Amino acid sequence: MKKIMLVFGTRPEAIKMAPLVKEFQKHTNEFAVEVCVTAQHRQMLDQVLSLFEIKPDYDLDIMKPGQDLYDVTARVLTGMRDVLKESRPDVVLVHGDTTTSSAAALAAFYQQIPVGHVEAGLRTHNIYSPWPEEMNRQITGRIAEYNFAPTPLSKKNLLAEGIDPEKIIVTGNTVIDALYQVVDKIKNTSTLNEELRMELKKAGYNTSRLDKGKKLVLITGHRRENFGDGFISMCKAIKALSEKYTDVDFVYPMHLNPNVRKPIHEVFGENLNGSGNMFFIEPLEYLSFVYLMDKAHIVLTDSGGIQEEAPGLGKPVLVMRDTTERPEALDAGTVKLVGTDFDKIVDNVSSLIDDADKYDKMSHAVNPYGDGKACRRIVDFFKTKA
Ligand code: UD1
Ligand code: UDP
Repeated sequence: MKKIMLVFGTRPEAIKMAPLVKEFQKHTNEFAVEVCVTAQHRQMLDQVLSLFEIKPDYDLDIMKPGQDLYDVTARVLTGMRDVLKESRPDVVLVHGDTTTSSAAALAAFYQQIPVGHVEAGLRTHNIYSPWPEEMNRQITGRIAEYNFAPTPLSKKNLLAEGIDPEKIIVTGNTVIDALYQVVDKIKNTSTLNEELRMELKKAGYNTSRLDKGKKLVLITGHRRENFGDGFISMCKAIKALSEKYTDVDFVYPMHLNPNVRKPIHEVFGENLNGSGNMFFIEPLEYLSFVYLMDKAHIVLTDSGGIQEEAPGLGKPVLVMRDTTERPEALDAGTVKLVGTDFDKIVDNVSSLIDDADKYDKMSHAVNPYGDGKACRRIVDFFKTKA
């Protein structure tokens, strides 16, 4: 029986690996499945583990407030050394581009354990944007024995780097599996709508404000390369927009990173809940976040995962970054890069609020990232080929 270990540590990895854990667990006659979390994130990881009812076999519990890249890399590497020595899996699966992923892949390589890279082949080709993610995924790509590319374009990127085509499997992105599962759950559980409205109200945003057609701009931000001036400019733009459009609600579930909160306080002051249409709330549990994203008019973000999810829900996404490793939805016209420049953010959000034609062009549902069956394809690969 093949022993598969799935390793992840942050919120987005957990969201994207959870459906894969569940899919492997359907085949326990063929696989021994183990989950190791590094807990590079703690609270934001635990929110996802609890939603998907995943109990890790190993928990490195590495998170420290204000950790830097050295802290995370060193703790994952040494933590994984001991876990891998004890467990001796046949394959280690890591996800995407976090420091958990690259350090766990390296740890597996040091014990000559083959690595499967889920969400392989995304590239900006600029190692400082996003930073350090572009280098993390390139490192993981060099180590990986199996590359699960979400799209034909990501396969093309890997082929251009000389990766053996036999070792690249186009699967779709597992985020769409997660999204569809959650959307289904919301649609099919009659009581859930009301529960989620209550959750959001408790979190600080009353969705009944949207019942009479009020528009919502949903905001997230956390990229390291934007810390400092970039974040200040983003926050100033959001403030200006919320003052310009007093009849539009702006909701910002804040990442727990102190580097994200500091500029928010610098621009908006210490008391964030003072003004009428600007709502700063704590990170939302995935179900509530998807519910709110579905209610949003526009999504303004620097997130990777949200660039993949929101187009599937037909929501225009303005990305506060200069590059993206996810150009598919850009090409489809539902995502636009606006960087962190004050004027560019204000102008682009304004024109989507003011110009119905522009809005219509950007708000059609497209889903270049998958059909919700990525996890099945990955498991099938291990059943038949690996
Ligand atoms: C990490 C990933 C990034 C990913 C992002 C998703 C790296 C280098 N960065 O960035 O690729 O896009 O997660 O959100 O791998 N914190 C908490 N509780 C939590 C989570 C974070 O308090 O549950 C705070 C802590 O102070 C922590 C800090 O946030 O030290 C930074 O966390 P870290 O994982 O290092 O960086 P992120 O910006 O979250
Ligand atoms: N998300 C969430 N709650 C929030 C904000 C985001 O569950 O309050 C989800 C979102 O739907 C997406 C993922 O978290 O699936 C994105 O995480 P993040 O932006 O932190 O990381 P990235 O995708 O940029 O690596």
